[in-house]
Amino acid sequence: MKRVLISAGGTREYLDPVRFIGNPSTGKMGLALAQAALHRGAKVTLVHCPRSWDAPLGVKAISVVSAAQMQAAMLKELGNADIIVMSAAVADVKPRDYSVEKLPKRSLPENLPLAPVPDIVAELGKIKQPQQLLIGFAAQTGDIITPAKEKLQRKKLDAIVANPIDKIGSGFGSDHNQAVFLDKEGREIEIPPCSKLEMAHYLFDFIVYSRRQ
Ligand code: C5P
Repeated sequence: MKRVLISAGGTREYLDPVRFIGNPSTGKMGLALAQAALHRGAKVTLVHCPRSWDAPLGVKAISVVSAAQMQAAMLKELGNADIIVMSAAVADVKPRDYSVEKLPKRSLPENLPLAPVPDIVAELGKIKQPQQLLIGFAAQTGDIITPAKEKLQRKKLDAIVANPIDKIGSGFGSDHNQAVFLDKEGREIEIPPCSKLEMAHYLFDFIVYSRRQ
């Protein structure tokens, strides 16, 4: 373990000063990944969205709000990382326009044009060096494996964490999680319900020790 770059939490896309498009991610999985990487002696950079927890001491914490800010921070830090884990839940769309004045409520249902946000991890997948390991997450309901395999390939990831968010006691906001880890060599392992910190350690075992050290 050397230098680990982690993204955490849910991005927010503001349409005016009081409203945003977002998601329920709390960033706890990213926090657990940062703690696990620190425990393993890594130099950790954590790009995080608004959160209710403190970044661990010793971590380089970079605070962002929107997907565009997260993209800029990840691109800036990419060259300083051996392992990149994109655990953030990035909003898929943003309001096309931002209003500095609070928009009248009645204007919203009729007039809220949306625009796509950049796929950050896919951009990182295009430009990363071959020795860098890029890991994504796929939060899914129902069949978690098929979409995770598709994302692993399309986004040029080395591995992906397929994460059921419709199971009790896992996913957004929980201190626990369960997942299937898949990698580009076709390995697939199921991680039963455990704490997010345990899951983070299982993930680093999966991507680092069993692959190349
Ligand atoms: O949203 P989706 O299921 O495609 O997310 C899978 C992976 O892609 C996650 O690692 C997520 O952080 C990343 N992602 C991203 N930029 C987006 C959407 C998702 O980096 N705009």
